Amino acid sequence: MLAFIRHHGAECTGMISNFISHSEEETRAFAEKLGMNALPGAVFAITGGLGSGKTIMAKGIARGMGIHEEITSPTFTLMEIYEGTIPLYHFDLYRIENPGELDQLFFEEYWEGDGVSVIEWAEKAAGRLPAGRTAITIERTGETSRRIILERPGD
Ligand SMILES: Nc1ncnc2c1ncn2[C@@H]1O[C@H](COP(=O)(O)OP(=O)(O)OP(=O)(O)O)[C@@H](O)[C@H]1O
Ligand SMILES: [Mg+2]
Repeated sequence: MLAFIRHHGAECTGMISNFISHSEEETRAFAEKLGMNALPGAVFAITGGLGSGKTIMAKGIARGMGIHEEITSPTFTLMEIYEGTIPLYHFDLYRIENPGELDQLFFEEYWEGDGVSVIEWAEKAAGRLPAGRTAITIERTGETSRRIILERPGD
């Protein structure tokens, strides 16, 4: 069959980095670099348990994008928009109980748009995330240490 769409670059998949952060500041600095280098349309899909540092990552990415507004951890909002040179769409999907709930929310419009999307609890949107995303997995390895893995899942 004829392919109408060819997605270049999607074949570059796999692990990008595996980093141990020893403090909140180190995580912020790491995230800031990601934000600084983020191109329009970038999607950061973050997975990690409660208090692992997902919001700290979001704050660092925002700072790297030149956004100085305080990024908060939304409790009752699923998404917050911050206007920067490139807009930041900050999602917190904690309250999503099954991916079907996302059907009416049209988040894909943002994830496929020209802003930078940062999604906390990205696993709650399993099967709905764009193939070109950068997956960030944070694992708590100690009181103040975290393993941060970046990957391009490509699916
Ligand atoms: N190396 C580290 N990197 C990031 N955060 C750290 C680190 N060490 C300690 N912390 C602490 O862990 C907490 C991370 O909180 P944060 O709100 O970012 O987590 P979260 O994953 O967003 O949680 P939630 O699931 O509730 O949204 C902060 O209190 C932070 O100070
Ligand atoms: Mg959070």
